[in-house]
Amino acid sequence: MKRREFLAALAATSVISLPAHASAPRVVVAKSPSCGCCTAWIRHMQEAGFDVEAKDVTQEALYGLKASLGIRQDHASCHTALVEGYVIEGHVPASDVKRLLAERPSALGLAVPGMPIGSPGMEMGDQKEPYETLLVFTSGKAEVFARHN
Ligand code: CU
Ligand code: CU
Repeated sequence: MKRREFLAALAATSVISLPAHASAPRVVVAKSPSCGCCTAWIRHMQEAGFDVEAKDVTQEALYGLKASLGIRQDHASCHTALVEGYVIEGHVPASDVKRLLAERPSALGLAVPGMPIGSPGMEMGDQKEPYETLLVFTSGKAEVFARHN
């Protein structure tokens, strides 16, 4: 086989062996079993193309997880997710998660503290409360990543 043919064959093989979901980042979400808004946020993420795995945990385990990941109480919300090494706390819009993964800042992740009405998974008719997505750092500090509504 000529060198050029060999390289072409190699390229073809590596394309075929790529995982089918290579373009869909995997999101693992910890939530309490009874949380309806968490399920609505998961649907929002799936519709945006994310591959989501939900794990039901007790409320106590969820608080423990937030603390061990370094999410401050005043940045906390209902569910806590992990995607490509980043923490996603609460009702963060999928578009912000995509921007985070594209820009890859040195940070702990994103948080939408509390549960603002009109954020993804917290829709209530046409009510929209202004809210901010925070870029949170391992130091506990945060800065505004995006403003919504
Ligand atoms: Cu919620
Ligand atoms: Cu939730």
